Amino acid sequence: MNITVIGGGNMGLTYALSIHKNFDEATIAIIEKDAEKITHLKNTTPFAIHTNENECLTNANIILLAVKPQASNLVFKNIAHLIKPNQLIISIMAGVTMESIKIGLNATKIVRAMPNLPAQVGRGVTGYLLSDTITLDEGLQIQQILSATGKAIKVFNEDAIDAITALSGSGPAYVFYFMNAMIEQAAAFGFNEKEAKSIILQTFLGTASLFEKSEDSAQLWIDRVTSKGGTTHAAVTSFKADQLNESIKKGVDQAFKRAKELAKI
Ligand SMILES: NC(=O)c1ccc[n+]([C@@H]2O[C@H](COP(=O)([O-])OP(=O)(O)OC[C@H]3O[C@@H](n4cnc5c(N)ncnc54)[C@H](OP(=O)(O)O)[C@@H]3O)[C@@H](O)[C@H]2O)c1
Repeated sequence: MNITVIGGGNMGLTYALSIHKNFDEATIAIIEKDAEKITHLKNTTPFAIHTNENECLTNANIILLAVKPQASNLVFKNIAHLIKPNQLIISIMAGVTMESIKIGLNATKIVRAMPNLPAQVGRGVTGYLLSDTITLDEGLQIQQILSATGKAIKVFNEDAIDAITALSGSGPAYVFYFMNAMIEQAAAFGFNEKEAKSIILQTFLGTASLFEKSEDSAQLWIDRVTSKGGTTHAAVTSFKADQLNESIKKGVDQAFKRAKELAKI
């Protein structure tokens, strides 16, 4: 497996390192333009680092597009003439549609994927959509590659990619938002920064772990912890009075709508 990653930033490097760790047979090259990053990548990774697309695209079976969405048109212009019909193009660029990749690269075998930040620690969620020319075997290979950074979930239309963007793509910020509010309240109770982080982090990790290991719904777990007239009941009653549930769903829906808008730009 010969992979070229275009864009050796946060995500491109995360994928390169995860694939390297999980696939002995993978040969990985990175194309990067930023001089500082090039030096860093050369000094700290085992990959071939290139600045020129001509040097390493022709041998690639898989090309991973990991530049910012606003750089996509320039990348398309630089590499379209080098793309061969049998090469698999995986794009993780947010908001760049299947159709625009198809037109921009004149390519047929395209994967539009939407990862999230925990990919950096191997616990990401990546939703992905395959173009209809991708074979069953290629689909399996893509599932394995994307699973190198966590869970990979196949979806069947771009609406679902926008939904994944709103749920797991932006999701880490929602979780941090909730954690931050609890850390602020821990500080208000007098805990120092280190203690507050430790209490809240362990609460999130422990709860996520419990949930992961059980078949029960989140609502059932809430009911289980909430005895009438108790402390949790007081908090949940206050959340309900403030319509926190509706507010969260509304926010996620706004993210979904924004994902759709950005895809049109
Ligand atoms: N970070 C996330 O959590 C996340 C989640 C989902 C999807 N994504 C998607 O992942 C993609 C990458 O995000 P990121 O956070 O990794 O961005 P990033 O850290 O900025 O990395 C992109 C890298 O590509 C380089 N680059 C720009 N144009 C290039 C070109 N023509 N050829 C080669 N390299 C080029 C950039 O250099 P310069 O800095 O010099 O421009 C930069 O080093 C984005 O499209 C984003 O939408 C990210």
